[in-house]
Amino acid sequence: MKKAGKGLFLVLEGLDGCGKSVQAALLAERLGNLGRKVRALREPGSTPPGEKVRELLLDPATGSLDPATEALLFMACRRELVSREILPALERGEDVVLERFHPSTICYQGAGLGLGTERVEELARWTTPGLEPDLVILLDLPVKEALARLGPQRDRLEGRGGAYLEKVRRAFLDWAGSRPGVAVVDASLSREDVARALWEEVKRVLHQG
Ligand SMILES: Nc1ncnc2c1ncn2[C@@H]1O[C@H](COP(=O)(O)OP(=O)(O)OP(=O)(O)O)[C@@H](O)[C@H]1O
Ligand SMILES: [Mg+2]
Repeated sequence: MKKAGKGLFLVLEGLDGCGKSVQAALLAERLGNLGRKVRALREPGSTPPGEKVRELLLDPATGSLDPATEALLFMACRRELVSREILPALERGEDVVLERFHPSTICYQGAGLGLGTERVEELARWTTPGLEPDLVILLDLPVKEALARLGPQRDRLEGRGGAYLEKVRRAFLDWAGSRPGVAVVDASLSREDVARALWEEVKRVLHQG
């Protein structure tokens, strides 16, 4: 699974409600203003079969799933999205702005559901061999603020409660650590300030390429 071409592969990560969708739209607009072609995608989904699996994953009526089943469903969606959309776009020289990627599965299922982060990382390598984002931006937000932004409506995964989300937030921060190609941005700032901090990180990668 080779990444060719000159498109940038940019991933936004973080808890539900941290502002990924808001920032993805702003980032896509900003890249577009530079005359770049941008493909904005989100996980799970963004392909016809992926949207069906998304429905299954998010519908509270699905009830509980075996944690490994859940991780594999996310991986299946991801594989389909990478082969149908992400690799072709990058090869055409387009930038890809993606909401959620492997780090979400590593943290929500690996750490949060106790599968183990190593096991999920292994699965990630098998699912998308050799494909690495140019930049992962973790939008970090305290769980309380993330839940407040979401309001009372909860999907199947958002309904798992504060203790679970605390574990996931910690896992995201541990995963990010001092890993190259990962930036942590304080998502509690205003939309504009988050966008500004995020753009500083993206500019660094733009100038490398
Ligand atoms: N910096 C911010 N300050 C205050 N509110 C914000 C900020 N960024 C986003 N919001 C609001 O918080 C809510 C969640 O934002 P958004 O939908 O972008 O999050 P998300 O990370 O995409 O969530 P999900 O994972 O559930 O899709 C929205 O109502 C949005 O308008
Ligand atoms: Mg969103």
